[in-house]
Amino acid sequence: MTLTPVAPLPEHEVRVRAPGKINLSLRVGPRDEDGYHPLSTVFQAVGVFEEVVATPSETFELTVSGPQAEVVPTDDGNLALQAARLLAERVGIDTGVHLHVVKDVPVAGGMAGGSADAAAALVACDALWRTGLSRDDLLDLAASLGSDVPFSLTGHTAVGSGRGHLLTPALTRGEFHWAFAVQHRGLSTPAVYRAFDELHGHDIPAEPDAEADVPLMQALRAGDARALGAALHNDLQTAALELDPGLAEPLAVAEDAGALGVIVSGSGPTVAALARSRQHALVLAAAFTASGVADRVLTAAGPVAGARVVSATD
Ligand code: C5P
Repeated sequence: MTLTPVAPLPEHEVRVRAPGKINLSLRVGPRDEDGYHPLSTVFQAVGVFEEVVATPSETFELTVSGPQAEVVPTDDGNLALQAARLLAERVGIDTGVHLHVVKDVPVAGGMAGGSADAAAALVACDALWRTGLSRDDLLDLAASLGSDVPFSLTGHTAVGSGRGHLLTPALTRGEFHWAFAVQHRGLSTPAVYRAFDELHGHDIPAEPDAEADVPLMQALRAGDARALGAALHNDLQTAALELDPGLAEPLAVAEDAGALGVIVSGSGPTVAALARSRQHALVLAAAFTASGVADRVLTAAGPVAGARVVSATD
């Protein structure tokens, strides 16, 4: 008797992609008793992606590949693992999951890579376990994991208030093109907020001024990159520069290369430069590379969608 070889059944897996973000505007109020700062921010999701592949497992395990994979924690400190455990608890799942994270968003770079992993893990496990939770349920779980996780779920462009977790979609026209100067040294978000408190603790208004972003919102609605460049704003930038003075270099290089605007992304240290076009983004990236002011250089367009299943096998 001869045996006909058959292809092995594909392992049940769910593959999810989630984007990194930049803050087109980040306005910070005084620290609350809970240790958080009230924010008024405008997020944009950009085309630099994390991928999370979820497969069934008895235990909760995480592996990582991609740039800087070696500095990503794979224990319970990892936000993607925390997301999977939280969802399992919420819906009463008593098995584990293996999450494989393919990183591309800079680690500790101010682009919410860890939050993107957590959002992707929620969406992947939700599909794997067929939980039947609503989008709002997932958003609640996301907010309990971290301030930026809800935005990683929703993507596109949105105004964030509260800790940054309360989102209102923003109208935008067309695409904006960005170049990023990435530093492997990273910056700690709590440390940047502490430096912000020391620098500005006594002279900031009780509420961040959302009205100040009217020109920015108009620029987004009109698809006017030049006006957007002029309206970019980051209250954490001085604090990030205080902790990492070397960031002045990529900021200056982008300005010299004709960026329409340039800011530190979120709590840094990634520097985001707004280009006139896709080609100009490549020119800005080349300027970062040539001047040696970045460990890694990326280009991307935004806005893009939030965490989405890209493939699933049964
Ligand atoms: O919410 P998440 O865990 O991402 O926040 C990390 C840290 O950043 C917080 O512990 C806090 O120190 C700081 N943070 C803040 N105000 C915010 C968001 C974050 O002070 N709105």
